[in-house]
Amino acid sequence: MNLMSRATSYFSQLNYTLANEDTALEVALLPEKTDTILSIAGSGSRVVPLLSRSPRRVICVDLSPAQLALTELRISLVREVSRSEFMAFLGYPCAEAEKSPEKLRKHWLEKLELRPETRSFCRDWLSSRDWQSPIYSGRWEKTFQTLSALVQRMVGTTSRELFDCRTVAEQQDFLRTRFAHQRWHLAVALFGNASVFNALLYKGSFPKKNIPGSRFHFYRDAYSRLFSISPARQNFFLQLSFLGHLEFEEGNPVECDSLVFEKAKEALGRSVMEYVHADAVEAAQKERQNIGFLSFSDVPSYFKGDTERQFMQKIRSGLNDQALVVVRNYLRVPSQPDLRGFVNLREEHREVIAQEKVQVYTVDVFRHDSK
Ligand SMILES: C[S@@+](CC[C@H](N)C(=O)[O-])C[C@H]1O[C@@H](n2cnc3c(N)ncnc32)[C@H](O)[C@@H]1O
Repeated sequence: MNLMSRATSYFSQLNYTLANEDTALEVALLPEKTDTILSIAGSGSRVVPLLSRSPRRVICVDLSPAQLALTELRISLVREVSRSEFMAFLGYPCAEAEKSPEKLRKHWLEKLELRPETRSFCRDWLSSRDWQSPIYSGRWEKTFQTLSALVQRMVGTTSRELFDCRTVAEQQDFLRTRFAHQRWHLAVALFGNASVFNALLYKGSFPKKNIPGSRFHFYRDAYSRLFSISPARQNFFLQLSFLGHLEFEEGNPVECDSLVFEKAKEALGRSVMEYVHADAVEAAQKERQNIGFLSFSDVPSYFKGDTERQFMQKIRSGLNDQALVVVRNYLRVPSQPDLRGFVNLREEHREVIAQEKVQVYTVDVFRHDSK
């Protein structure tokens, strides 16, 4: 099997159900009332927050019908249920916890407006999990749950004590004086190993790293940055990494933020949603200069050959003048991409990029200059 078809088969299943990106970044970059945006769907948690910027039309694209179904489910929930029901349905920690989230899931799944294939996929998927929290059923989330068990074994009780810190200063002091550093570094060395991710998750399609430095330093430094951005309890990725689940509501991903959720709900009264099962480059190409914002996730890290070099030229026909294209590179930055007609605004947005709460991505923010 060649690398492209390995990547295609990896992406044909439900791999993401929570979030492995902090979409607060794209929300900060997306201009209010952009006409048409195209976004990789993923779990849908990378789409919901974009709605809070009131786009007129949102094209959700994914190679995986399962990820598109989950995205449609999330969007329907935002449209039809309250924020606390949304959080209960997905399995997020929430102060107004539902007594019986399983019942709530069964109830809403039959009531929501969904395409028949989406309802039947979600029914099969959720009932096979006994209607337990959907956000932990992706392969990526399960992998991190497995890794968190390893981290807990190695770091011991300090992995939980980390979440008692209420401020960054308190956390830095805790990390300096009481955290099991050497054991943590050993855990990072183990889980940062490409063969571990390939065995647990990517089945051979893990991006082939081409950024400088070792994997150990890459992950160690990413987590160090995360420890300095916010208390761990305010970060969903740190909760998943150390606890294996989310426990602190203040760390829920940005789709749960009350303002973001309410604005997204309001926008759904006007916005047109489309779910497109296709390759993102091909979907973008077809848009005849309609797209004002393209959220690419780290999809380009998996490109090879001609696509790796030409994807930015290929999408140009779909972009309007001044359109923004946000790319998250993960371990692999496309080699020698043809960037004619684009300006990279990464430096201009340095501060917001530095606040991103997963920190494993090298972010590019391209502006399309068609003149
Ligand atoms: C790239 S993944 C996110 C990966 C994750 N951040 C990681 O590091 O593993 C996000 C979504 O992109 C989809 N995807 C991958 N390649 C794609 C492509 N060429 N076109 C459209 N969707 C694609 C996947 O199915 C998945 O749902």
